[in-house]
Amino acid sequence: MTRVYLAMSADIIHHGHINVISEASRLGEVTVGVLTDEVIASYKRFPLLSYEERKAIVENIKGVAQVIPQETLDYVPNLLKIRPHYVVHGDDWRTGVQQNIRRRVIETLEEWGGKLVEIPYTRGVSISQLDEALSRIGTTPASRMRRLRRLLELKPIVRVMEAHNGLTGLIVEKTRVSYAEKIKEFDAIWISSLCDSTAKGKPDIELVDFTSRLNTINDILEVTTKPIILDGDTGGQIEHFIFTVKTLERLGVSAVIIEDKVGLKKNSLFGTDVPQTQDSIENFTKKIAAGKKAQLTRDFLIVARIESLILKAGLEDALKRARAYIAAGVDAIMIHSKSSEPDEVLDFCREYGRFENRVPLVTVPTTYCQITEQELSDAGVNIVIYANHLLRSAYPAMLKTAESILEHGRAYEADKGLMPIREILNLIPGGR
Ligand code: SPV
Ligand code: MG
Repeated sequence: MTRVYLAMSADIIHHGHINVISEASRLGEVTVGVLTDEVIASYKRFPLLSYEERKAIVENIKGVAQVIPQETLDYVPNLLKIRPHYVVHGDDWRTGVQQNIRRRVIETLEEWGGKLVEIPYTRGVSISQLDEALSRIGTTPASRMRRLRRLLELKPIVRVMEAHNGLTGLIVEKTRVSYAEKIKEFDAIWISSLCDSTAKGKPDIELVDFTSRLNTINDILEVTTKPIILDGDTGGQIEHFIFTVKTLERLGVSAVIIEDKVGLKKNSLFGTDVPQTQDSIENFTKKIAAGKKAQLTRDFLIVARIESLILKAGLEDALKRARAYIAAGVDAIMIHSKSSEPDEVLDFCREYGRFENRVPLVTVPTTYCQITEQELSDAGVNIVIYANHLLRSAYPAMLKTAESILEHGRAYEADKGLMPIREILNLIPGGR
């Protein structure tokens, strides 16, 4: 029997795929390698359907004899298992990000005289256009909320960027860069108290009330599909926090992070320059337990943010609190630091790695921004949050424009650095 192999993610199936499968089945018995969730999440966006669902679909396509998982972007491990006579693919991978994968397929097949057969690319279908159309359809609260837990299972590190309104939400939703054979994008959205407050011209002291924060959340929910992590400040009174959890779950927010401080909250990056009081372990664990009890779904996460390093209470205190918060049922721990070096966070990570009972670990490398995602991931960090970067990049640009117009008595000089009117008009589709 002639063995034929082809691989696909099969998250969105169109007639181009059916054509490739049908051509492949003329050559022999077709095995389809369906990319696993981990592989898809590693090179492009999170799959819409799980591996099991995608496998069930492909198994039922005419001409497919069997489906196996393809656990790497690289075909080689499966090729060595199957030793196919033919590999079939569309001819659209000769250039671009997939050309190296193609080369390795050809080299491997040569070992046993196998051949690569390329089917002319089906014109008029574009996965990226279908992707775009899907993202316009949107998501549901339940599936958005669930996605953060899935990302934690699938990705070595979940990459989160702040948004403080619809426009920045769109940037986090849509920004992509191609990188080696992969497409990189942000996995989730952080709604920071600092950025939400600053964008409203208010200090970050829990002054922007929850109703106002909900408006920001809603603006972002309206135009995005990615999971949202809310900066819940201190979580407020226990009695209030219970309501907050229920509200966030209903909206489809995936997680809330609350920090173990009491009294008038100040931004952590002030450190000990301003009076700030850490909550007692006893009270904070009560808050966590009350929040967990209030939860209706299994998908929502309550994350405990430890401020011991910020408030110079030391590593031992941070570790003691981590143990207590985990015992109280928290879903993840955030360790915060305002040090200009990553050392104290890495010390925490090392000790944390020895815990028997661990939950995912979150970091916010604002002051120690030299550290890479890879280094954080190697240290055992599961979520990295870029907490204020879009706001901090926008403000200086806006200020520069305002100053230039004042200085020159006209907008001509500033205009050169600005986005053309035509582009801003077309930035958000549907305006015509
Ligand atoms: C925020 O983004 O509001 C945070 C993180 O809480 S930090 O500003 O570093 O305290
Ligand atoms: Mg905050």
